[in-house]
Amino acid sequence: MRKNIVAGNWKMNKTLQEGVALATELKNALATKPNCEVVIGTPFIHLATVSELLKGSCIEVAAENCANKASGAYTGEVSAAMVASTGATYCILGHSERRAYYGETYEILKDKVLLALENNLKPIFCIGEVKEEREANKQNEVVKAQLEGSVFNLSAEDFGKLVLAYEPVWAIGTGLTASPEQAQEIHAYIRSLVSDKYGKEVAENCSILYGGSCNGKNAAGLFANADIDGGLIGGAALKCEDFKAIIDAF
Ligand code: 13P
Repeated sequence: MRKNIVAGNWKMNKTLQEGVALATELKNALATKPNCEVVIGTPFIHLATVSELLKGSCIEVAAENCANKASGAYTGEVSAAMVASTGATYCILGHSERRAYYGETYEILKDKVLLALENNLKPIFCIGEVKEEREANKQNEVVKAQLEGSVFNLSAEDFGKLVLAYEPVWAIGTGLTASPEQAQEIHAYIRSLVSDKYGKEVAENCSILYGGSCNGKNAAGLFANADIDGGLIGGAALKCEDFKAIIDAF
């Protein structure tokens, strides 16, 4: 059966010291094992320290990105192998902020996903439409193209290592959450695409997270749906209490 997962995405927040403090607080708050897997996505420079700190705990660590090249003369980039060497086990890829502000195309993301997998990192692959696309009722075509463009090239075995995150861009950081019905509808559609491509078993085992203004108040309503297997959390992942409230929704 697929896992329920609550993953935090700290984005470009927290100094190293603040990140260590938050990770420590979370570790203590989750001393009793929660009913879902918990992941925190931190800036690159925090990964080694936070991974070490969380060793033996129930919290896994994710990078928020990795390079689309394996190694070499790419000043300022961080490879999937480097991420893996810190002890991080997940890598968030395809976030809408990366697509929008850093020009990450389907092809670039395809390479990043392959490199993450080669280095035994589990990609949390983000998809989702912008407001204009939702208004034009194009959300299904958008997520289909995003999957076809970057991950449907994978073998069934490799695809099985992915976690998908549906994040409608209009809901990210805006306070406008997709309704549980809206989210369930598109999550079910995403699962049907996976099923058409890889078969029912792979689709049933694929965790599909919801992201976009998810908080302690709306999480339970979202997670109660058959095809919503947890959340990818931005703002509410920056405070232990807020993040714990979402984890406790399971
Ligand atoms: P918010 O929870 O702040 O809306 O961000 C969601 C997100 O982008 C997680 O990756």
